[in-house]
Amino acid sequence: MAIKLMARQIIEVDQKDLLKKLTTAFADEWSAYYQYWLGAQIAKGVMRGVVVAELIEHANEELGHAQMITNRIIQLGGTVTMLPSEWSKFAGCKYNAVKSENSLTILQENIKGEQCAIKFYDSLLKELHCKDFVTANMISKILEDEVKHEQDLVTILEDLSVCCK
Ligand SMILES: [Fe+2]
Ligand SMILES: [Fe+2]
Repeated sequence: MAIKLMARQIIEVDQKDLLKKLTTAFADEWSAYYQYWLGAQIAKGVMRGVVVAELIEHANEELGHAQMITNRIIQLGGTVTMLPSEWSKFAGCKYNAVKSENSLTILQENIKGEQCAIKFYDSLLKELHCKDFVTANMISKILEDEVKHEQDLVTILEDLSVCCK
């Protein structure tokens, strides 16, 4: 006997549309994870150790976001994307390919990615407010992390501009 889940009945937004947006978030989180991870492998230049440590920390947190979103997609009866090749098809933020080993450039590219993520999650959170508390709560936590990521990267860039003109 199939039990109709109350968790899905309390949602006051279009479930199909929500799953589409969560799939976009899923694809963007994997891209963000990869971008940070790759940057951490190849970064060179001033304060390399500090930059690499920050990139690795962010990479792990982006992977955590992908996990949270996956759990929610499954709760809502959706399916997660099976093929990494489809990530770009569903992506909301343009993937900023790592173009240089220069730690400064890597930081700047990652800031662009964070700013796109902040805009996306802020808009989704406003849409879900009071209509789907569980997803909104999750998005709020992720948004808080993305805001912190942006700040962390900007702080390192500022330190670099002071120490290494
Ligand atoms: Fe994230
Ligand atoms: Fe982030």
